[in-house]
Amino acid sequence: MASLTITPGRPLQGTISVPGDKSITHRAIILTALANGISTVARYCRGEDCLNTMRALQGLGIRIDESDEELCVYGKGLWGLTEPSGPIDCGNSGTGIRLLTGLLAGQDFFTVLSGDESIRRRPMGRIVKPLREMGATIAGRNGGELAPLAVTGSRLRAITYASPVASAQIKSALLLAALFAEGTTRITEPRLSRDHTERLFHFFGIVLQREGTALLIDGRPSVGWNAAPKLVVPGDLSAAAFFIVGATIVPGSDVTIRQVGINPTRAGLLDVMTRMGADIQLFNRCEEAGEPVADIRVRSARLRGVEIGPDLIPQTIDEFPILCVAAAVAEGETIISGAQELRVKESDRIATVSAELRAMGAQVTERPDGMIVRGLGTAKDNGRLQAVRGHSHGDHRVAMSLAIAGLTASAPTSIDEAACIETSFPNFHRTLLELLGECR
Ligand code: S3P
Repeated sequence: MASLTITPGRPLQGTISVPGDKSITHRAIILTALANGISTVARYCRGEDCLNTMRALQGLGIRIDESDEELCVYGKGLWGLTEPSGPIDCGNSGTGIRLLTGLLAGQDFFTVLSGDESIRRRPMGRIVKPLREMGATIAGRNGGELAPLAVTGSRLRAITYASPVASAQIKSALLLAALFAEGTTRITEPRLSRDHTERLFHFFGIVLQREGTALLIDGRPSVGWNAAPKLVVPGDLSAAAFFIVGATIVPGSDVTIRQVGINPTRAGLLDVMTRMGADIQLFNRCEEAGEPVADIRVRSARLRGVEIGPDLIPQTIDEFPILCVAAAVAEGETIISGAQELRVKESDRIATVSAELRAMGAQVTERPDGMIVRGLGTAKDNGRLQAVRGHSHGDHRVAMSLAIAGLTASAPTSIDEAACIETSFPNFHRTLLELLGECR
């Protein structure tokens, strides 16, 4: 898919499913590979990011059988990984490369990890520094700040680490390394980032303690953990987010998204959209893989601008591109602050989202740590953006956000370099067409 064209004019209607959660899929693949026995991971995310993590584990000696519905992972226990015959390609995935580096730091073999152009620009020092404190031997460009990373497996020791950034990738890389370290590792973060690793550890019975804001884990457990006969990954709220915003801003829409993860450390979008005036209902609540899940029904509504401050950033971090689309058509101003992490995502999302939405007629001012979006809404309705030729900047979430923005225009919008959508949501366009009533 070189470019994607979106034809507006109809409401979004119907019931859909979205891919399994990308963050949880990465973690499920890693933890089932380290389990004793055969696990199945159902409704996994088939985006390229997670497939790269699957291939990485296969290269590390784990048999994984793949079908459209589930992965069958033949876990070899905590110490079962073996040296790969070549470099590990993590593609576009920050979660993949950072979690795998943590996992591999304490092995007794050598690995090289790299990825695409975007991954080779993203900061790795944030995991390399604490892993080196644990005794890891990691080399990389710019003193270990940038991938490729070369990891010579070492005997690790536990550390106490106060992460300067609320990042689940840092926390999870260290928790995985800590499994192989001697002693009790203690990790704190300035604000709670997504807690999927903690929940999945709990699901597998891996002992992890919380003391106030600190996480404590004893390394080298004498017994490992059992495989999961059926681990079902919840639907990805970050994928659902595009349709939650789309259904809200296109008049006459009514969309239900089945079985989506609503973990509070991820669900900032639901809180922010509700504060903006969205009509969102949750029902059929249940639990999968230790995560809360629900069906989400969204009907169109008029939006107003809100303030989103530092407290809300970690649980909303991946949803800013699409939230800015909502803000751009709302009535009044939306002010986002404390979100400087957006500058080191798949693209610099403050810069790329501001530029693309401005090209569509939105009023956006960039700030070092966020942006101010002056909504185009009128008292009567949500506002409309202009059809343009948009650019994804190689960032899947920017591409999908521009597609949704295009639904409010009065002529077709096309988005260049849309193939990046494959990294997280291969069926995005098809699902959108289904809701627009165009799927035959
Ligand atoms: C993720 C954590 C977040 C998020 C990313 C997925 C994860 O990154 O933006 O898309 O699966 O742990 P940071 O840890 O850098 O905040």
